Amino acid sequence: MSGDRPALAALECVACAAFGTFSAACRAATPLAYFLLSAGPASGPVQVLDWALAALCVGVCTVIAALLYIAIRRNRRESASPNATLSQVNVADERGERTATRIVAVGTAISSVLLLGALVAMLRVLAAVADPPRAPSLTVTVTAYDWWWKVTYQTPAGASFVTANEIHIPTGEPVRVDLQSADVVHAFWVPALAGKTQAIPGQVNHQWIEADRPGVWRGQCTQFCGPQHAHMAMEVVAQAPADFSRWLDAQQQPAAAAQSGAAQRGEQLFDARCSGCHAIRGTQSEGAQAPDLTHLASRRLIAAGTLANTSLNRLDWVAHAQQRKPESLMPDIALTPAEASDLSAWLDTLQ
Ligand code: HEC
Repeated sequence: MSGDRPALAALECVACAAFGTFSAACRAATPLAYFLLSAGPASGPVQVLDWALAALCVGVCTVIAALLYIAIRRNRRESASPNATLSQVNVADERGERTATRIVAVGTAISSVLLLGALVAMLRVLAAVADPPRAPSLTVTVTAYDWWWKVTYQTPAGASFVTANEIHIPTGEPVRVDLQSADVVHAFWVPALAGKTQAIPGQVNHQWIEADRPGVWRGQCTQFCGPQHAHMAMEVVAQAPADFSRWLDAQQQPAAAAQSGAAQRGEQLFDARCSGCHAIRGTQSEGAQAPDLTHLASRRLIAAGTLANTSLNRLDWVAHAQQRKPESLMPDIALTPAEASDLSAWLDTLQ
């Protein structure tokens, strides 16, 4: 399916036109519009099925609306002939009943054939996307928390490191995703790359994703998991293999030592106020209850897709987490202007 680029590009145009997402701005505003477009072989067959079922539903609705219209018109014409005798009315009623029975029988037969066809198509699609075309060389363990995603990489060389809310993958390679949950039932869905899979406490579910071109694909928790469920997004960043391997090397490194005085004070402040929950590899902060921040500044978004990752937003989040994501497990942390500036200097270095 992924090799069928011209057809998919045409579909993309139609979808963009249909959803008014022509401009980059519109697309950015509707990041999940990709639920009707595919960027990889695990989602391609699903999307073809989506479009076929959508077309079928539109077709069925159109036919039903047309039949309803004809029936109303005919009924009006018949009730407009008041001079008919009783026997004429009875004959017409009997004929009408016979016709109605025939129409119901034909309609039921057509619906049954269509529904059976849809069932067969669904089973075929499920079988087509069940397994990757070849064994994945990379495994990523994604653990869902209220309301963010912990991402643990096992590198092909056997090393392991943790990051959060952003999953990098190499293009053209299937990647195995082991899904688990630390608290309640969540569901992992990156529509452009694969169907939905639940993350269930005490159980590991498996999924695979593959991107056939570089890009950033938005994902979302799709199982209602509490007040901030809607703010539990993540991004999959697909990179050309060489770029991905550079990213992999950089992420395995511990945080660079703080150089400036401000950054050093910021590190101490972090250690005192944040390390109970957060870890920064290479420092004394080893908390495991919150996103790993070792390479925080290298990520695109913070707070599980809620805010762009800028210095200002990072400080805004620290001071107002409970306004940005009410009831999230990150408390508001009051800092003096000097403390905020030191902390910011430290967080900025976490590239
Ligand atoms: C009581 C635990 C706790 C403490 C203390 C805490 N945090 Fe957090 N923090 C969290 C949790 C939980 C999240 C994830 C919230 C979410 O997205 O729902 C988070 C998210 C973040 C994020 C966004 C990370 C990302 O990749 O999305 C940043 C940045 C952050 N915290 C910085 C700090 C800083 C700086 C401090 C100290 C001044 C701090 N936190 C103190 C629990 C904590």
